[in-house]
Amino acid sequence: MIQDNLLNWFEKNKRDLPWRKTKDAYKIWVSEIMLQQTRVDTVIEYYNRFIERFPTVEDLAAAEEQEVLKYWQGLGYYSRVRNLHKGAKIIWEQYTGVFPDHIEQVRKIPGIGAYTAGAILSIAYNLPYPAVDGNVLRVFSRVFSIKEDIAQPQTVKLIEKMVKEYIPEGRASDFTESLMELGALICVPVSPMCLACPLYHHCEARQTGIQDELPIKTKKVKSKQVHMIFCVIRYDDKILITKNPSNGLLGGMWGVPGKEVNAGGYEHTVESILSELHIQPEHIKKLGKARHVFTHMDWDMDIYMCKAANKGQINQEHRWVGRENIDDYPLPKVYQKVWEKIEW
Ligand code: ADE
Repeated sequence: MIQDNLLNWFEKNKRDLPWRKTKDAYKIWVSEIMLQQTRVDTVIEYYNRFIERFPTVEDLAAAEEQEVLKYWQGLGYYSRVRNLHKGAKIIWEQYTGVFPDHIEQVRKIPGIGAYTAGAILSIAYNLPYPAVDGNVLRVFSRVFSIKEDIAQPQTVKLIEKMVKEYIPEGRASDFTESLMELGALICVPVSPMCLACPLYHHCEARQTGIQDELPIKTKKVKSKQVHMIFCVIRYDDKILITKNPSNGLLGGMWGVPGKEVNAGGYEHTVESILSELHIQPEHIKKLGKARHVFTHMDWDMDIYMCKAANKGQINQEHRWVGRENIDDYPLPKVYQKVWEKIEW
């Protein structure tokens, strides 16, 4: 039986991961959100720190957004953590802090799609919902030799239906994790380790020798290339930082003033950035270039340094901070690339 082989293999081979020591749906939720775009090795430390500081829904719901963002700093995709925080408030207010166990309620929590809902309900509550991520799509495509494009929603739907049918009675939790684990350790994207696979005898792709050609996935559209300009503005020994608007890509995180060069149909320059802030430059110098790759966008960054003659007119979304205080603010990786260029 596919299920028995898989579950026995999982029992013997599963990695010792911190979120596997609990069945607390809140903690599983945190782990799943962190794991959405980030590697397991990176997540472990973040997860431990986050859970230590916010051990319950109540602790997270009660926290200030800036502090929550600080605990996510460096993980990227910050809308994930803003949704997590919003979700915690909803669960605290509507469900007295208990993570719901009805799929309709779970799907209404911000940031939770079909995969994450299935993962939490199956792993934490042992309910028979499929959790189909990239790993599981790959495993099922190979085991059942599915030659449909996994980038198509109908292929995902088909595989979700198949996974649901395969969930063994009363074993949803381990089954979900065992599929993910097989995809992560054995049925890897390139050169899968078929000889070590518990589904060796069941795998149709392996039998016909096409395991390296599956899954079929059409290429996603090319990333948008965006030309950005940033200006590190210095006055005495302080630097001006600014908070990104709460709904944007880096919403709620802090950074240095900058613009997309061609935003709004005209060309932004260092001078226009400074003039918006009513800052008179004493001296402007180009510090260099940097690149940052997001999921759908690449930033090509020109970075300037300006010595300011005045402190300008700034609002609550701006602060003059010293080098020693910068760690108090959540600063995404992309701005650390800017930061690294500063000659203090
Ligand atoms: N990737 C997504 N969810 C996971 C989990 N629970 N364990 C390991 N890897 C994962």
